[in-house]
Amino acid sequence: MSERPIDPKLQPADSLDAALRIKRLDELYGQDKVRNNLEILIEAARKREETLDHILLYGPPGLGKTTIAHIVANEMGVNLKVTAGPAIERAGDLAAILTNLRRGDILFIDEIHRLGRAVEEILYPAMEDFALDIVIGKGPSARNIRLKLPRFTVIGATTRLALLTSPLRARFGVVLRFDFYDVPSLERIIRRACDLTQTPFTDEGVRVIAQRARGTPRVALRLFRRVRDYAQVRAEGVITRPVAEEALALLEVDSLGLDSLDRTVLEAIIVKFGGGPVGLDTLAASVSEESDTIMDVVEPYLLQLGFLERTPRGRIATRRAYDHLGIPYPSEQASASDQPTLFDSLILE
Ligand SMILES: Nc1ncnc2c1ncn2[C@@H]1O[C@H](COP(=O)(O)OP(=O)(O)O)[C@@H](O)[C@H]1O
Ligand SMILES: [Mg+2]
Repeated sequence: MSERPIDPKLQPADSLDAALRIKRLDELYGQDKVRNNLEILIEAARKREETLDHILLYGPPGLGKTTIAHIVANEMGVNLKVTAGPAIERAGDLAAILTNLRRGDILFIDEIHRLGRAVEEILYPAMEDFALDIVIGKGPSARNIRLKLPRFTVIGATTRLALLTSPLRARFGVVLRFDFYDVPSLERIIRRACDLTQTPFTDEGVRVIAQRARGTPRVALRLFRRVRDYAQVRAEGVITRPVAEEALALLEVDSLGLDSLDRTVLEAIIVKFGGGPVGLDTLAASVSEESDTIMDVVEPYLLQLGFLERTPRGRIATRRAYDHLGIPYPSEQASASDQPTLFDSLILE
């Protein structure tokens, strides 16, 4: 599968990214619940001169979890160590990281649901008691010793809260869910990017990008870059409504922000599997995509739009999905609520 123009997992790699990075909580638009919670947490910890409680951030990719970890460290004036679940292979790797932390430091663990079991066992006492249990020597002479660690803060991020083991989850004092952003918040984010890059725009042009950004800042910024390129090459450099629409049509991003992979997935459910239900792995194989990508990147937005339903037996395409793709909705597929009930038949008679 080729690179998706709006895959929120893709990280932009140019210097523009550095210019657009936000460093303070008050520069963060949208995500009000998360921001308010963090403001209180930070303020209280500062007042009491304590270290922050451990924080777990969860939600779809591209909504600002990594950004928030950096902002929190910046606001607390402490160091941030960044790692990720799959990067910590052995218990010893984590022990090495932990013993290098200083009081108040933040350890950011991305994809924390992918930590190995042995690594997690080291993390539990570290988070709870700020202690590291290690075994020295082998065989009969082996001894357990407990090292004290400085008080530090773990910020964990995950796209899959359900995959976190319950003991790990229980060690976070604060659990914050990230929601998709509304269009006005995305507009502010895009306007800020226009200002920082001195890109002229109209409000309508910005709105088109915001409406098609799948509620995701990373997607909004990605589309902004492509539209800006298009404006510079094909138009007078100004992001207007027609310029944005043409640029996004070229990327095959439709009016609701669906791209070709989203449409391929929906079409597969509808055409190959008669509207569903179809299991995730079967569906992924039928479109030659990884199950993780479908689950993390494609499904959350389709669920949000009400185009898809997850049932115990698999995924089902809803009537709205048929309508959006212009595929007639088969009458025998009517959902339970559309089907005539005994009550209806009684009335007819
Ligand atoms: N609320 C926001 N305001 C402005 N830009 C944001 C916001 N949230 C995220 N971004 C930008 O979107 C991109 C993705 O954010 P990131 O923190 O990497 O998401 P996640 O870690 O949840 O996948 C980054 O370039 C970041 O600067
Ligand atoms: Mg991230």
